[in-house]
Amino acid sequence: MKVYIKTYGCQMNERDSDAMAALLREKGHEIVSAEEEADALIFNTCSVREAAERKAKGKIGYMKKLKARKPELIIGVAGCMAQRLGDALLEELPHLDFVLGTGQLHTLLEQLEKVRAKHLRFAETEPSPDVLTGMSGHYSGTWHGEIAITRGCNRFCSYCIVPYVRGREISRSQEDVLAEARRLVDSGARELLLLGQNVAAYGLGGDIRPPADDHSPFADLLDELDRLPGLLRIRYTSPYVSYFNRRLIRTLAQAEKVCHNIHLPLQSGSDRILAAMNRQYTRDSYLAKAAELRAAIPDLTFSTDVIVGFPGETDEDFRLTREVMNEMDYAQSFIFKYSPRPGAKSAQMADSVPEEVKEERNQILLADLAARVRKRLAAMNGETVEVLVEGISPRTPARWTGRTGTNLMIHFEPDAAVRPGTLRKVKITQTNPVSLFGKLVD
Ligand code: 5AD
Ligand code: SF4
Repeated sequence: MKVYIKTYGCQMNERDSDAMAALLREKGHEIVSAEEEADALIFNTCSVREAAERKAKGKIGYMKKLKARKPELIIGVAGCMAQRLGDALLEELPHLDFVLGTGQLHTLLEQLEKVRAKHLRFAETEPSPDVLTGMSGHYSGTWHGEIAITRGCNRFCSYCIVPYVRGREISRSQEDVLAEARRLVDSGARELLLLGQNVAAYGLGGDIRPPADDHSPFADLLDELDRLPGLLRIRYTSPYVSYFNRRLIRTLAQAEKVCHNIHLPLQSGSDRILAAMNRQYTRDSYLAKAAELRAAIPDLTFSTDVIVGFPGETDEDFRLTREVMNEMDYAQSFIFKYSPRPGAKSAQMADSVPEEVKEERNQILLADLAARVRKRLAAMNGETVEVLVEGISPRTPARWTGRTGTNLMIHFEPDAAVRPGTLRKVKITQTNPVSLFGKLVD
């Protein structure tokens, strides 16, 4: 079968799509990049904001024409929107064959065969813990590998749909993760990205209380991975601020392979809004934790997620968010305009901030980010940094790109020996407001 897979949403979804693709390839099926060539179309969807759902539905709706021309074409919707809407999606989109929830992704092939053989229409959304192992061990053998070490979330931030569409948090055993890491490294991975909706809560059994200062199964896992021969770098996303206890900070500071970049979602800089969001930290405790991390790891960079226009967000709340963002000097930030999600707690509050105000706040934070990035990049001119070579630059094929441990991308001219997945030193020779350019120096 020729299968086309399109992904919406986060890195976990990207990884799930990669794993589904690898799973199909292992069984002799082909992954194609054009919808017209495919026997089956799979849309791996996201529910985090209304816009993400609208986009996916628009695209799937558009596929009706293709199906009219090619009636045997199978169309399936997977992932978070599939989980959220289930049977209702089958009703809404009559040309859809099946709906596959977040706990059933590992059964994709079985479902495709069911549709092909029996022409059934169905929604399979029963959560199954088998997804955790069923989706592991399928990968494409490049320098970059990804491992979902936890799935689901128990935190119930009031705006967030994730606990409802991805279910309760579950962790894989350390043994299982290490075995997969070894297999990935054996098949060529030099960088591993550990994924989880709440990655630093790994191994805590779903307890949302931050652990004692000397206890961090996530740190234990990082220590083990740090010793893995052949592996060069370890990244992870996304952690929640409260889990950075003394034990974890010690590992982050001492480990040789763990990258010095933390994606640390802030969401808001106003304590009033943080409380309404059910985030269990304050502006001061967040800043104190970041300061502790910076003291332990001096070249650490941070990135973040922020929501503007949460119900009741005033100019003063927004000013506080802006202030914390500038104080944190984030190297990257993802800014989202609030949208109410059915089922999430905040959907019961009035969506009180007008769209124009959300957009204005969004633009202000984007301009602040651009100014910070410009300043940071300009200050790096002349520095020599170590990068993990990633490959040919997508926009300028004559150049290659590499990434620093602090997660900055550098463009450089390759030499004959340069290979993806190797560490090289690059001297930065030119900067512009958004990019760094350099020369190989070893
Ligand atoms: N509206 C806007 N942004 C949201 N996010 C999560 N839920 C919502 C929502 N209802 C953002 C958060 C999260 C990121 C993945 O998406 O910032 O960290
Ligand atoms: Fe979207 Fe969240 Fe699901 Fe990722 S986990 S696909 S961000 S809803």
